[in-house]
Amino acid sequence: METTMTFEYAPAPESRAIVTIKPKYGHFIGGKFVPGGKHFPTINPATEEVLSQIARGGKADVDAAVKAARKAYANTWSKMSGKERGKYLYRIARIMQERAREFAVLETLDNGKPIRESRDTDIPLAAAHFFYHAGWADKLEYAGLGTSPKPLGVAGQIIPWNFPLLMLAWKVAPALAAGNTVVLKPAESTPLTALLFAEVCQQAELPAGVVNIVTGDGSTGALLVNHPGIDKIAFTGSTEVGKIIARAVAPTKKSVTLELGGKAANIVFDDAPIDETVEGIVNGIFFNQGHVCCAGSRLLLQENVAEEVLHKLKNRMEKIRVGDPMDKNTDVGAINSKEQLAKIIELSAVGDSEGAERWSPACNLPSKGFWFAPTIFTGVTQAHRIAREEIFGPVLSVLTFRTPQEAIEKANNTPFGLSAGIWSEKGSRTLWASQQLRAGVIWANTFNKFDPTSPFGGYKESGWGREGGRHGLSAYLKGVSHE
Ligand code: NAI
Ligand code: MG
Repeated sequence: METTMTFEYAPAPESRAIVTIKPKYGHFIGGKFVPGGKHFPTINPATEEVLSQIARGGKADVDAAVKAARKAYANTWSKMSGKERGKYLYRIARIMQERAREFAVLETLDNGKPIRESRDTDIPLAAAHFFYHAGWADKLEYAGLGTSPKPLGVAGQIIPWNFPLLMLAWKVAPALAAGNTVVLKPAESTPLTALLFAEVCQQAELPAGVVNIVTGDGSTGALLVNHPGIDKIAFTGSTEVGKIIARAVAPTKKSVTLELGGKAANIVFDDAPIDETVEGIVNGIFFNQGHVCCAGSRLLLQENVAEEVLHKLKNRMEKIRVGDPMDKNTDVGAINSKEQLAKIIELSAVGDSEGAERWSPACNLPSKGFWFAPTIFTGVTQAHRIAREEIFGPVLSVLTFRTPQEAIEKANNTPFGLSAGIWSEKGSRTLWASQQLRAGVIWANTFNKFDPTSPFGGYKESGWGREGGRHGLSAYLKGVSHE
């Protein structure tokens, strides 16, 4: 008789005792917390518990923050040597490491992502971005970006909710290393780690006004974009808002970088190592609930291995643990907001009505909070909306192909071009495919690997410019090509 043993996991909750959340927050302007006017709640999407009241920045707040940033730029930061600036960045990086657990717990509470991911990915990578850019601060002359590279001035930075602290680090670290000062607006559903970061700036004794944080929603973001005292806008978020920003800055002298959406092809050739590939597919789409701009959301399977891959993928998906983000065993946490959940539900329903076949493992989803079971759609064609639009959730669209050329054509048939994945044991095929793919980041036999030294960014509607590496640094310096 065959017996299968399954081991249930006992709950392993992380304690939230390490964080102190104030009932209400203001903005961080000129090195101080200043009271806000109107407030709105930020919630824990796994429980719908209100965590705190967040200030909605208006015109006067944005204006004060831009003025503080300008003053700090003119009087302090642009006059300081790169070596001195670097010391502050190293200090921030070290404090972030020291307070990593606090940041991880707060990120998970405010965002809904599993503590395992905030602890092992978001926070260490955010600190790594500060360490990396700290190293550049006194070496800008040697970066191959001109003999005497100069900062742009004041940068307005607007970030999304999917990697709140990490996106802050992607924006703030290169800006400061290059000698700019910043006004940053975190996303309305995830402002808490940015506000904790403000405390870190105080703790590091960063000169007042070098980093300013104004909280609020899209209307606050728009005020920042349209403020005449801003020299550069850096944005990560939806392609829709990216287009609004591009139109707003077009008639101005503002520089702009846009990190927008994606619909990445994850291509599996028939010589791929199938078991490893299945892990990569799962990581590609279910990491961070699929709230990832570079997620491998279109799986392209070579026809002769499609059945085997799908069989193994479904088996693997049965083992994904969905639930309490604070549990150290959780793989997939809560959907970040009610609005995002509605969008995922709506696009998945379009998948059903267009004739694709939906499959999810049995999941016991919590009754409170926002949840969506890991889902795959098979029988998807290129015309389907779920093959074309960013779902930004744990939903994978599966297509097949017969020849490598067909895989490339299908992969490139998208308005986006942020990332792609290639699974093959043949190096020549991987190199050939990577040269044909129109995507800013291409992973081979892995997925969702990030490193501060490696430039990240897209083609077409995925955005303008690069973040990370020397390319990302150049986007905060005058007169340097941004591509
Ligand atoms: P969003 O683009 O509206 O929000 C991103 C940031 O931009 C937030 O801080 C928001 O307050 C701000 N913002 C909104 N409107 C603005 C405006 N007119 N001017 C300046 N700033 C503005 O994204 P949202 O609504 O949260 O998500 C909608 C969809 O966007 C998602 O379903 C997903 O497909 C995509 N998205 C992509 C992201 C990425 O990393 N590429 C991140 C977040 C969302
Ligand atoms: Mg929240």
